[in-house]
Formats: sequence, structure tokens, C-alpha cells
Amino acid sequence: MGVLIVDNYEQGCRIAFERIKQVVTQRERPVLGLATGSSPIGIYNLMVQDYQQGHCSYSHVTTCNLDEYCGIDHHHLQSYHYFMQHYLFRWIDILPKNIYIPTCENILEQECKKYNDLLLQNPIDLQILGIGSNGHIGFNEPGTPFDSTVHYVKLDEKTRMDNSRFFKSLEEVPKYAITMGIANIMQAKSIILLAFGFQKAVAIKGLVDGRQTIELPASVLSSHPDATFIVDKQAACLLLHK
Ligand code: GLP
Repeated sequence: MGVLIVDNYEQGCRIAFERIKQVVTQRERPVLGLATGSSPIGIYNLMVQDYQQGHCSYSHVTTCNLDEYCGIDHHHLQSYHYFMQHYLFRWIDILPKNIYIPTCENILEQECKKYNDLLLQNPIDLQILGIGSNGHIGFNEPGTPFDSTVHYVKLDEKTRMDNSRFFKSLEEVPKYAITMGIANIMQAKSIILLAFGFQKAVAIKGLVDGRQTIELPASVLSSHPDATFIVDKQAACLLLHK
């Protein structure tokens, strides 16, 4: 596990972008695990810019997203389907058939199994992660077993409150979601977790200085063979050794 303390958001996103570009240009059939939230937006901007400058194609790339809300449709401005189109997919040459995002639209048990099978068939080369202020990864909330696979989840009230900044009111924030499980995330060959701002400091302290516990889902990453945490000074402010 490596911790990189960066000066700012731009620098953190650039480092993550360079790693993505390495995977995309060096592998024949790269699979990227993608995340939503404000943390990875800067990475997606850099990917789009780089693509528009003619430096990199995504026509051979497959992407698997971490999670999606249940109870809002894919055109909803806060759905993760919309988010991914808006920030990334519609600007690059990725083939729609190679884009995978879990969905709650059909029978949930079947959806979970389908997405799980898909992840088994498309092992992820590089997984991008944000982190919730409660330490969640994807929508794996505190208490989620480390051996969990794709599942339906009732969102933590803390998560709903944190994410209410994107909705008109707290009531509008979905109560349920579908997410890759912790075991799926741990299968990725490499992982980059991004954390920016003071609101992530407690979670980052637990992740770097604390012990592994299901109460802090991200703490599982300390036993991943190739996980890098990119954090800014605010998110790193409680760390013992900087
Ligand atoms: C949501 C997503 C997570 C993401 C988290 C942090 O809850 N499901 O995957 O990591 O938000 O978001 P942000 O990067 O906006 O702080």
C-alpha cells in the first residue's frame, strides 16, 4: 500500500490519469473499473482532453462501474449512468457495448448475479475509487463483509446526507443502491483510491494508521498487493507520518 500526498486536486487527478493511460496504451484489452462522485471528475476531464488531442483511443477498452442508485432512472441527472455519459463516455471513442454499469431496473437478484458474472469474465486491470466520509468504497457501507460480491444495499444515512448536496433535498436522495462488493473490488490487479478535503481526513487516518475492520470498508485495501492512495494535504492532515 502506498500513500501519495499531493499538493492539490489537479495534481492527484493527473497522477491517476497517467496510470490509466499506461494501462490503456500498454494492454491489448484493458478493463478499467470506474467510479463516480466528485473525486474522479478531474481524471475524466484529462482523459477527454487527451483523447481530443488525438493522443489515445478507447475503442479497445472495457469499463465496469462500481455502483448505481436504485429508484431513479438512467436519465436522472444524479444517476451514475447519466454521470458517466456526461463526464466521460460521450466524449471519447469507447464502444457502448464495452460499457458496463450495474442497474436496478430488473429483478435485483438476477442483476447482481449478472454483474458478478460479468466481472468474473472481465478482470479489472485498474480500479479507480473514491471514499465516503464513513469509509465506504463503491456503496459498501460500514458493516459490509469483506467477502461480499455484487449486492443490493440500503444506504447509510451519513451517505445520503453527504450525497444530498447533489440533490434538491435529502428526501430526494435514493435509499437503496446496487454495488460491486468488497471482494469484487479486491480482485482488481491495481487500485487507486482518491481522497480530497478535510471531510475525508478521519476515514484516511483509519485507512492508513488503523487496523482492518468492516466498520471502515476501505481498510480492506491495506492488504491489496497494489493499492495506491492519492490524498491531498487536507485529507492527510491526521496522518501520523507524512
Ligand atoms: C458516492 C459513491 C462512491 C464515492 C463517494 C465519494 O457515495 N458511491 O463511489 O467514492 O460518493 O464521493 P466524492 O468523491 O464526491 O467525495
